[in-house]
Amino acid sequence: MTAMTQTGRAPATDRPLAERPVVIGNEAYTSAAYAREEGDRLWPKVWQAACRVEEIEKVGDYVTYDIIDESIIVTRVAPDRIAAYYNACQHRGRRLTEGCGHAKRFACKFHGWKWDLDGQSVEIVRQDAWEGRLNRDDIPLKTVQVDTWGGWVFINMDPDCAPLRDYLEPAATMLDPFQLDRMRYRWRQWLYFPCNWKVAIEAFNEGYHVVGTHPQLTKYSAKATWSEARGIHGNFGSAAREGVGGASSGASGAADMREGLKHSINQIWEEVNATTTQTMVDVANRLEVELPEGTPAQQVQMHLMKRTIEEDAKRGVVWPQIDPAHIAAAGNDWHIFPNTVILQGPTFALCYRARPHGLDPDSCIFEVYTLELYPQGQEPRPDNLFKPDIDEASWRKVLCQDFSNMGAVQQGMKSRGFTGMRPSPEEERAITNFHRVLSEYMGRGAPVPM
Ligand code: FES
Ligand SMILES: [Fe+2]
Repeated sequence: MTAMTQTGRAPATDRPLAERPVVIGNEAYTSAAYAREEGDRLWPKVWQAACRVEEIEKVGDYVTYDIIDESIIVTRVAPDRIAAYYNACQHRGRRLTEGCGHAKRFACKFHGWKWDLDGQSVEIVRQDAWEGRLNRDDIPLKTVQVDTWGGWVFINMDPDCAPLRDYLEPAATMLDPFQLDRMRYRWRQWLYFPCNWKVAIEAFNEGYHVVGTHPQLTKYSAKATWSEARGIHGNFGSAAREGVGGASSGASGAADMREGLKHSINQIWEEVNATTTQTMVDVANRLEVELPEGTPAQQVQMHLMKRTIEEDAKRGVVWPQIDPAHIAAAGNDWHIFPNTVILQGPTFALCYRARPHGLDPDSCIFEVYTLELYPQGQEPRPDNLFKPDIDEASWRKVLCQDFSNMGAVQQGMKSRGFTGMRPSPEEERAITNFHRVLSEYMGRGAPVPM
């Protein structure tokens, strides 16, 4: 038995690292050498979300996934089979694809060599010149590990990597009931951002910053959040362990929950344009008509869910059935190591992906997208829009508030006066755990207990 401290918790030295007060140095964010080494020690070893399955729906559809100076072609080779190849011509190395598109063959634009969707060489221009020394069988496109989960296509360059499912646990089991694989893009936007990719992803894997960064979202209460290390991943949620996504938990503490939910769900819809749906907004706007004054908060919550499920059913959107205890345990948000964040809901999700922008530690490619469950045949197929301007017309209020931190964090971390990060042992465990795992790949930089 471990002796308890006055707070009723085990002494810090007996707790897992993520739950301890630690200091984390700035090298992982600011060092050019570290950024280069990530290209050797991290990115070629981890499963990473390359695209959504819906982007390669038909045989021959492809997406080019770039990560630092590596590039991978992800393509559908058969109705039930996806493949991934290094994006390099076996003649003199030219990249075969860029962006996304549709191909019957991958044809090199330099001298015209061709490969079929299975990666087999099908044409070498004037092959006779090699006098039989160059055989098409010897130069297939080099494959990369590929698998799917939750509607994402993940790739891994390590031929000896663990299976995707094992890598994703326990996140996969916790998120499976949300049926993210049934959801489709509602909107997609991206920009280059002047901060390290970790600064960007860490702006979205904790709820501790809400009171400081988004004070308008704390009208009813500014409750603490919880955060947990989940294997190599992490999650956080509202301390009350309630609600379905950010909108409804924002109303906790409202004197009249009908008014509270109406306010917070409309606010989230307007200021984030995600983590709720038009159906839920419409139902929230009728709560004060459909329920008498004084209805207990939990009943209002349940009515909101029940009516939203009914209204969605009428338009052909069938909610997954998820045990409320599971919804609470899953929290609001998951960080999937290393660079994806998912805020899950029963018919929607808000997701982030951050990648290095070349080898510059001070720059990243930052993508934000929402998923939603649509009636079959009504999926909108939005383009991935480049939105370099940080203004509310482009990114809405809440994301602009988050963006206002990211560049400033990167700058501050480079200061001679910065002595390391000190994540909250309660509300930022996912961040400490991220650096614990990252340090294992990188061979240095582990959080140091205070
Ligand atoms: S480099 Fe591709 S055909 Fe020559
Ligand atoms: Fe935020």
